[in-house]
Amino acid sequence: MTGFIYSEKPIRIEAGDGVFLYDDAGVEYLDFGGSYACVPLGHDHEAVTTAVHDQLSQLTFVHASYPVDVRTQLHETLSDVAPAGLDNVWVCNSGTEANEAALKFARAATGKPKIVSTMRAFHGRTMGSLSTTWKKKYRGPYEPLLADVEFVPYDDSDAMADAVDEDTAAVILEPIQGEGGINPASAEFMETTREVTEEVGAALIFDEIQTGLGRTGRMWSCEHTGVVPDILTSAKGLGNGLPVGATLCRDWVAEDYGSHASTFGGNPVIAAAAHATLSTLRDENIPAHASEIGSYLREQLERQLGDDVRDVRGAGLMVGIEVKGNANALVRDLAMEHGILALTSGRTVVRLLPPLVIGEEEVDEVVEALSAVIG
Ligand SMILES: Cc1ncc(COP(=O)(O)O)c(C=O)c1O
Repeated sequence: MTGFIYSEKPIRIEAGDGVFLYDDAGVEYLDFGGSYACVPLGHDHEAVTTAVHDQLSQLTFVHASYPVDVRTQLHETLSDVAPAGLDNVWVCNSGTEANEAALKFARAATGKPKIVSTMRAFHGRTMGSLSTTWKKKYRGPYEPLLADVEFVPYDDSDAMADAVDEDTAAVILEPIQGEGGINPASAEFMETTREVTEEVGAALIFDEIQTGLGRTGRMWSCEHTGVVPDILTSAKGLGNGLPVGATLCRDWVAEDYGSHASTFGGNPVIAAAAHATLSTLRDENIPAHASEIGSYLREQLERQLGDDVRDVRGAGLMVGIEVKGNANALVRDLAMEHGILALTSGRTVVRLLPPLVIGEEEVDEVVEALSAVIG
């Protein structure tokens, strides 16, 4: 038997350019799922492809134990845009690895066993990250997972305060849950979680793999509240489509992180892509554009979909529309009838994570198409 272990969609994509993808018959699709938030600058962005081509022609690989200019530049740019205090950078190849490292670092630095996560959380699919992921569908076939993980209801400050104790190594949290239904946390929940982790010396981990890199209108979504974690993870859009993840942490975590490494982590070609992506996001002030166009998108959705949907929520260009019917069917109709690619988040939420460079014209097209398929 031969087979590709992924559920495939009935569209064969051949090319990408900006906010568009093209299939093998030349049909154009507006990528409003942003390929799972992996292309904040749009497909095949020139700064990124040029940086990658240049690096490929100079040096494809040398292990991270040898300093290389492009890797140093990436470290500097990452620390420059990171929330204050998160100056230590560990680079890997994906989101789940970034969280895996965060959990390991927290256990090593605190010497404690327990991890607190939240109901409906999604933190990845390797064994450690999966142990902090909520959904039975993802966990069930692989159990038993890590012991000592407790789940509390999301955005419930009292439950968080009760769960965090002297045995707690870390709390891991998405500032807005992505896979779990686009659920934003209140500032009060973030602040309480910061307080109770500080009280017992546990590490607060923010998983900004979906919310980070300008998606919510700030470089990191924790900037909306001013709560700074001890560890912050990033991936998805960090290489504008190339595979890279990063774990940023405070000195006290980095001083005692144990022994952790990845052969391909920070490889020069991927580092070039990530450096170009981050510099472009920062220098062109793209998070501010995401904030502005995201407000326009949510306003238009609320105005035009009105009572036909249950809720429109999110921040910046991380938007969830809770529909009355089946979100999967709507997303299929959007693709097949209107050439618009979107995502779901559970059975009832249509999820939009477009490239951050979209304009009002694309927003209007998507809102009109959504009106048509929902109506
Ligand atoms: C919040 C969050 N954390 C972690 C992950 C895992 O990232 P990856 O698929 O790169 O392993 C994802 C992926 O969807 C995510 O949304």
